[in-house]
Amino acid sequence: MADTLAPSSSPPVEGGAHAPADGTKRDFLKLVAGSFAAVGVGAIVWPFIASMNPAKDVLALASTDVDLTHVAEGQAVTVMWRGKPVFVRHRTAKEIEEAQAVPLSDLRDPQTDQSRVLREPWLIVVGVCTHLGCVPLGQKSTDPRGDYGGWFCPCHGSHYDTAGRIRRGPAPLNLAVPEYEFRSDTQVRIG
Ligand code: FES
Repeated sequence: MADTLAPSSSPPVEGGAHAPADGTKRDFLKLVAGSFAAVGVGAIVWPFIASMNPAKDVLALASTDVDLTHVAEGQAVTVMWRGKPVFVRHRTAKEIEEAQAVPLSDLRDPQTDQSRVLREPWLIVVGVCTHLGCVPLGQKSTDPRGDYGGWFCPCHGSHYDTAGRIRRGPAPLNLAVPEYEFRSDTQVRIG
């Protein structure tokens, strides 16, 4: 039943005013109670909705700037972007040559090296194994890098090459390439 005030059919009382009939009183109380309930729900929902808006610090992390100045050839750095590790590797000429020489027919997830790299010698990939989400090894020079010189995921034995492409093991896909841009020769913005 809708919360409306019903027209009164009660007789006039002293002074000409109409006393509400029982049904009308009940409807009136329902309306008042409903209004309080609506205010109460609104008061609870608003902070909840407000809390769903991203905070300024979260928005700031939507992109991550990387200074490449001190990443020497053969070295790699890991930066965090939107809660995930991103591998930035300064590849050697040999690593680039090996990545470019692989025929697409040898690849489980066929992608050329050129399609995964914006500017040589830098390879930038999300450091999350596409099998079950472990972080592969290979960022430190002392880490195992697998049979193809890129990264090795010890969780179940996935091997990635120097373009971050899956070459052996259970992972189905290459390491993802994030959106990024070079803002100068030594500054990269990821995201
Ligand atoms: S999570 Fe990497 S091989 Fe299973």
